[in-house]
Order: sequence, then structure tokens, then C-alpha cells
Amino acid sequence: MALKQQPYGLLPDGRKTDLYILTNVNDVEVSVTNYGGIITSIKTPDKTGVFKNIVLGLRSFKEYLKNDPYLGALVGRVSNRISNARFDLDGKTYKLAKNEGENHLHGGLVGFEKILWEVEVVDDQSIRLSYVSPDGEEGYPGNLHVSVTYTLDNDNKLTLKFGAMTDKTTPISFTSHGYFNLTGDPSKNIYDHQLKLYADSFTPTDQELIPTGAVDSVQDTPLDFRDFKPIGEDIGQTKIGFDNNFVLNKPEGELALAAEVEEPQSGRRMNVYTSMPCMQLYTGNYLDNSLQSPERIPFRKHCAFCLEPQHYPDAPNRPEFPSGILRPGKNYKAKIVYEFF
Ligand code: BGC
Repeated sequence: MALKQQPYGLLPDGRKTDLYILTNVNDVEVSVTNYGGIITSIKTPDKTGVFKNIVLGLRSFKEYLKNDPYLGALVGRVSNRISNARFDLDGKTYKLAKNEGENHLHGGLVGFEKILWEVEVVDDQSIRLSYVSPDGEEGYPGNLHVSVTYTLDNDNKLTLKFGAMTDKTTPISFTSHGYFNLTGDPSKNIYDHQLKLYADSFTPTDQELIPTGAVDSVQDTPLDFRDFKPIGEDIGQTKIGFDNNFVLNKPEGELALAAEVEEPQSGRRMNVYTSMPCMQLYTGNYLDNSLQSPERIPFRKHCAFCLEPQHYPDAPNRPEFPSGILRPGKNYKAKIVYEFF
């Protein structure tokens, strides 16, 4: 096991960012910066032992300052969309920052992905990022103390352990927004990746990707990933690709296998476990060649997929969904585990 820390770059206001490189006994290597908690690279071996980076990452720190697609970043205070950028809670209306038309996306204008997090090196396999999101930030109530511990173990599991406490009742839904391409080559699309999701149902949305409030069966829809299916098989039946929230077949709070992915050429596989109730599958539909890999490969539409464990989208406006509310005095805990083979 090893943990290396190196300077990564300066924010426009002069604050220093660092890159933390975790390596396990199998030489799997994960790089994380304290800017946005961004995972900039995950290197794993293919079936012949060749190591490649399996997540989209940028060339240098400077380029992350315009990370519009949230590459690898922590997302919060509430991931996904909140309709009309407002919600009512305990008899009060809260207005949030609008950053996608009339709606609020991924925590607003300055979400967790643009924060410089405090770092504590826990040991040679873990770092702990923490941040106090002030009362009123992006419109949310309460001073929210958040921490995320990243651990890479010798079983090739990368665990993100989330914790939070608040002094006023607030909605929360954190996620990590990694873009995966298990070939390690973002010039290839992800159509041949075999995906299995432990989800019998999904939350249908309107034109603006706001949930209608229904929870429908995936049966007879392109969203049926209950058995392994290539991501590309039914993608043509969607408008521009997958961008859907699945309801996982397990009780909220229970850490369980939620997704399995296999890339046949490289032989790389990944499992995703989570304690969260839902999972967004997003196939990089809005990637538009404007960002590039360190090797200058442009990131184009469908060159990666995201599996974002999260709470029910727009829960603060949907009494029919579990609330996703954190109250003072409660200790929020959640986990995401990526396991690499
Ligand atoms: C959402 C997409 C959005 C993307 C931003 C995903 O989580 O589902 O609709 O465009 O994040 O990068």
C-alpha cells in the first residue's frame, strides 16, 4: 500500500490544491484531488496485465476549472434535478440557484464539485475530505458538515464513505460522478460494455428530466438491464442515450450490489455496491469533444458511462418518494463501493 501526495495546481484565488495517489498491493492506482473530491484517474489491469486509466480525466488541474460535465467529481448538496429550483420544507419555501433552465442541477452554481475540501490522510490507504457547507449556500438550509472518506483496499475495492450532520433540516443526496470506459481508451464508445442493474423499476421523467412521480417497471423498455445486456443494444431506442434513474431492488440503507459491468475485449469488470436507494445511468450524452484526455483524445458523446448512486431525484418536491431529508441531531451515513476485476 502507498499514498503519495503532490501539488496539483492553484485556484484563481491562489489556494493550493493537491493530488493524492493511492496504490494497493496489486498496483491498482486511484488519484483524487481535494478540489471537488475529483477522481482524476483509476488505473486497473486488463486480462493480459496491461494497466490503463478507466475513468475520464483531464490533462492538468487548470482544465478542471471548467469541468462542466462533473468528470469524476463529488456532487451535492443534492444530486440530480430539483424542479423549478425550489422546495417547501416544514412550512417554509426555499429557493435554490437555477443552473439548468428553471431547474436546479447537482447542487447549483457552486456545488461540491467546485469546493476545495479539507484533507486528512487517515493511513496509507485512505484520505478523508471534509467541508462545512454554510447555511444558505446555493439556497439550502443549515450548516452542513460533510465528510467523504476514500479508501482503496487490497481487494481492489474503492470505497467512498459519506457522513453528514446539519443544524437545520435539509435535503441531501450525495454522489460521485465518475465517467467509466473499461477499455481504458476514450476514443472507443461504450456500446459493447455488458451491464447488469439490480433494478426492476425506474422513475420516468418529463422533457426536462424531472421525475413525473411514477415508479414504473423496466419490463419491455430499453431500461431492462436485469440481465447482462450491451449498453449499445437498445440505446437507439432512447432520444440521445441513457439518462435515467433506477430504483434499486433493496431497502434503502442496506449496502448491496447494484450494478455489474463487463468489457469483453479487455476483460475488465467492475461491480458497484451502494447503500443508497437509486442509481442514475448516464451515457455521456452531452459530451461534445470540448474536453480531452491527457493524450488529447476528445471526449465525445457515449465515450463513457456514469453509474451514480443517489437518492430519489426531486425528492424534496415529491411526497410520493422517500424524503431524503436530514434532520439536526441525526448522523447521515452512506456508502459507494467500486470493485475492480
Ligand atoms: C445527469 C445528466 C447531466 C450530467 C451532467 C448526469 O448526472 O443525469 O442529465 O447532463 O449529469 O454532467
